[in-house]
Amino acid sequence: MSRSAVGVSPGRVNLIGEHTDYNDGFVLPIGLRWQARVDAATRSDDAVVVSSSQLGETIRVDDLSPTPGQWWGYVAGVVWVLRQRGHAVGGVDLRLDSQVPLGGGLSSSAAIEAATVLAVDALFSLGLDADELASVAQATENDFLAIPTGPMDQRASLWCTAGHALLLDCRSLQGTQVPFELPDDLTLALVDTHSPHVLADGAYGERRTSCHAAAERLGVRALRDVTDPAALEGLADAVLLRRARHVVTENARVLDAVAALEAADWARFGALMTASHASMRDDYEITVPTVDQAVDSALASGALGARMTGGGFGGTVLALVPTDALEDFVRRVSDDYAARDFDPPSVSTTAAEAGGLELRARLRA
Ligand code: GLA
Repeated sequence: MSRSAVGVSPGRVNLIGEHTDYNDGFVLPIGLRWQARVDAATRSDDAVVVSSSQLGETIRVDDLSPTPGQWWGYVAGVVWVLRQRGHAVGGVDLRLDSQVPLGGGLSSSAAIEAATVLAVDALFSLGLDADELASVAQATENDFLAIPTGPMDQRASLWCTAGHALLLDCRSLQGTQVPFELPDDLTLALVDTHSPHVLADGAYGERRTSCHAAAERLGVRALRDVTDPAALEGLADAVLLRRARHVVTENARVLDAVAALEAADWARFGALMTASHASMRDDYEITVPTVDQAVDSALASGALGARMTGGGFGGTVLALVPTDALEDFVRRVSDDYAARDFDPPSVSTTAAEAGGLELRARLRA
């Protein structure tokens, strides 16, 4: 008799702390209401059969080995990682259904990996703890798909809880839940710029390499260990200096943002978001005209702050908007996009939603 289990985990939006995760730094994501769901069922053979509701496709894999660039790898790769780590995972049917927008910088891939590891863990009674679930999901992306992303996304998808942002220390991999409840007169808006961001095209890996080179020249284990931007003056290479300055100042902004949240100082929180964007635009050079325009339109509509979120080169802009200015903002960003012949943006709003572990606890209750 075939057994079955389900895993559900959301996309995430990072409030602040971009490109700090692979520098052992700090990030502050929240969970989204868009989720990936994976229904898993045992098979009588050893095959892994993956299907996608969105694509209407099914693929059967008999011999799993790392395969970059395939949609099914985000699902089947989890089984490969688990088997590599010695877990007894037999043949399995995995049906994927995901609402997380693709290419929007909202961790659609981490949501799929997280939902899959939750489903497979339950199906084969592996009893993985929160750290191991996240580690397997991240290894799927790094080792099966060969995408050199950091530790944030899978932990955000799994560990976020409703009404909180997750302060993740990417060196210790310890997460702290920081209350994140907006007052009624403020709204967190998400602008999908419809300029897909791509992680696999080399620019992400190049930024990562620059950071490691900067750390090496400064004689530190990671840029996390530099807290005084003046220490960066020792970098002779102007590009490396700018890249490192983004990371060092961004780490400080995350900790300041947490203090602002604790003090319910939303003006300060917004100003930090905008400073983060300027740093990504000018020092890290990962923004594009559509995201810069969305930030400018938000600020011109009275937003307290706005910034691109995620890996960069497109994706989603996050804006902290007075609720009574939201309609104005939607109109303004649409008009500004039309005036520049950009594809129309889509604006939605979000709160801090439950991650995969909280959703699992709710399903079991
Ligand atoms: C992508 C990666 C993350 C992180 C962000 C930038 O989302 O998957 O690991 O590096 O970019 O903050």
